[in-house]
Amino acid sequence: MSKKFNILIINGPNLNLLGQRESSVYGTTTLADIEKFCRKRATSLGVELEFFQSNHEGELIDRIQASREISDLIIINPAAYTHTSIAIRDALLAVALPVIEIHISNIHKRESFRKHSTISDIAIGQIVGMGPKGYLLALDGGVNYLNDSKLDN
Ligand code: DQA
Repeated sequence: MSKKFNILIINGPNLNLLGQRESSVYGTTTLADIEKFCRKRATSLGVELEFFQSNHEGELIDRIQASREISDLIIINPAAYTHTSIAIRDALLAVALPVIEIHISNIHKRESFRKHSTISDIAIGQIVGMGPKGYLLALDGGVNYLNDSKLDN
């Protein structure tokens, strides 16, 4: 049997407060709820899932670096670091894994500083504005991408 794909979902600062934080923008679903439904979807898709959150840029970078030998694809919501972090971009480039960028809110219809992402041009694609269930779209899209790239080889 072939090895299961391993997908890493990374969440940046303040996403640990989902459910309590600006519920008019982000809703009432907690990060634990998101992890739970993602794990359920990963099981039905037959992939392994790792789920990580940190409020610290360096910890996010350490986790990205550690994924090099383990993961096949990274789904990342860098939160506010999306708009500022060249270091997270460089870490993603360094590990050279396919990346899907996700945001719960539609960053393109909010403040102008949120429109810029340091990673969108190095991502396969971006999911924005679909709420917490957007993580499921990212997982489905990630598995499709990995299956297609396996067929190409
Ligand atoms: C966010 C959008 C970012 O602009 C913001 O800083 C976040 C969350 C989102 O998921 O919509 O913390 O990444």
